[in-house]
Amino acid sequence: MENFVVEGGVRLEGTLTVSGAKNAALPIMTAALLADGECVFRNVPDLNDIATLGKLLSHLGCTVKRDGPAHRVRVDTSGLGDVEAPYDHVKRMRASVLVLGPMLARFGRARVSLPGGCAIGARPVDQHLKGLAKLGAEIELAEGYIEARAPGGLWGAEVHFDLPTVGGTENLMMAAVLASGRTMLVGAAREPEVEELATVLNKMGANISGAGTDVVTIEGVKELHPPDHAIIPDRIEAGTYMAAVALTGGDVLLKGARVDHMGSFIDRLVEAGVTIDATAEGIRVKREGDILPVDIRTAPYPGFPTDMQAQMMTLLCLARGRSVIEEKVFENRFMHVAELQRMGAKISVRGSLATVTGVDGLSGAKVMATDLRASASLVLAGLAASGLTEVLRIYHIDRGYEDIVSKLSSVGARIKRVPGMA
Ligand code: UD1
Repeated sequence: MENFVVEGGVRLEGTLTVSGAKNAALPIMTAALLADGECVFRNVPDLNDIATLGKLLSHLGCTVKRDGPAHRVRVDTSGLGDVEAPYDHVKRMRASVLVLGPMLARFGRARVSLPGGCAIGARPVDQHLKGLAKLGAEIELAEGYIEARAPGGLWGAEVHFDLPTVGGTENLMMAAVLASGRTMLVGAAREPEVEELATVLNKMGANISGAGTDVVTIEGVKELHPPDHAIIPDRIEAGTYMAAVALTGGDVLLKGARVDHMGSFIDRLVEAGVTIDATAEGIRVKREGDILPVDIRTAPYPGFPTDMQAQMMTLLCLARGRSVIEEKVFENRFMHVAELQRMGAKISVRGSLATVTGVDGLSGAKVMATDLRASASLVLAGLAASGLTEVLRIYHIDRGYEDIVSKLSSVGARIKRVPGMA
């Protein structure tokens, strides 16, 4: 196991390039299962989660090849044979459940391990299963597996989600593209990654409209062909670095970052006293004055992203005043609080509400990463703290931040990866 050692107090300055979006690349790579032949995906971040999905696709019979520097991943589906996603693969990453919709659509059968809970909450898949059943799938849960069958194929239907679910909308879209007739997904998630998946599916020959709104309509087609597609930039990675720049009173251009995907986060950052300029190349972030307190409530897109809650909390730890953060998407997503407190933050939590009272400074400490975004918030805290911060269990970070050490170092941060105790 490795740890990060961060020496705080350095202002970040310069230019950083944003990588491709992990949460877009994952569903898009599973969409390859819908076509026969070689799919080419560009701007795919080099991350552990992507490698985990690559292993699962290989297990199913695909050939998955990455060309390092070009960030190109080729998924050749001509050898597809198995329709079972075993526990060993799914337990590593919940998004593995996204193979369910495409496999069922293409082969009329899929057996996928139930993902189970994870550190940030129960995260059930009931909406995925309810929707697939609406499309005519017979679903049974047995021995920890979802067994889904549609021997006569799936057929179009109107699916009403009880809550907007990103993965649920993606799974259903991928199931419906090859169904006979029209499917309407009502109450769909509107995240840019959902829209991006629809763009790729349409490139493959699907007929989807309305993605990015809460009603998505899919007219089933007979078959899809392999795409060549470049993935959108990662809005959460971009947001994380924007928070880092703000924390250190820095000035950085984030090349490739898209303001149109980051509205509510940028609004809150501006309220917190940060200057944001959209340029032709990306987003320039700068902070000169004090950090101001801001109230935040996470919500499905276009609301404030739950995936930015922890990083924003770190920023608000150093605000001039009191901020209230409400976590509305996941029930157990304040695990970073105890670690931030160890660095001198003043935060109190009651249920889904955290009250953050700004302090003058944080001090370096040994802290434990608990999930991907919580880990990022601790690295950020380390960048702003006095002295040394050691972040343990950074394998969480490697799931979602490509080259974080070299990226942060390139804008002046003092951060290194060191061997830790197992
Ligand atoms: C995706 C993102 C994750 C992000 C989350 C919310 C990927 C790979 N991951 O996760 O980074 O934090 O969106 O923006 O894209 N729910 C149910 N039943 C279901 C499905 C979901 O109750 O069948 C609940 C979840 O427990 C959660 C909420 O709905 O409380 C949102 O979850 P969902 O949008 O499905 O998140 P993921 O797709 O898992």
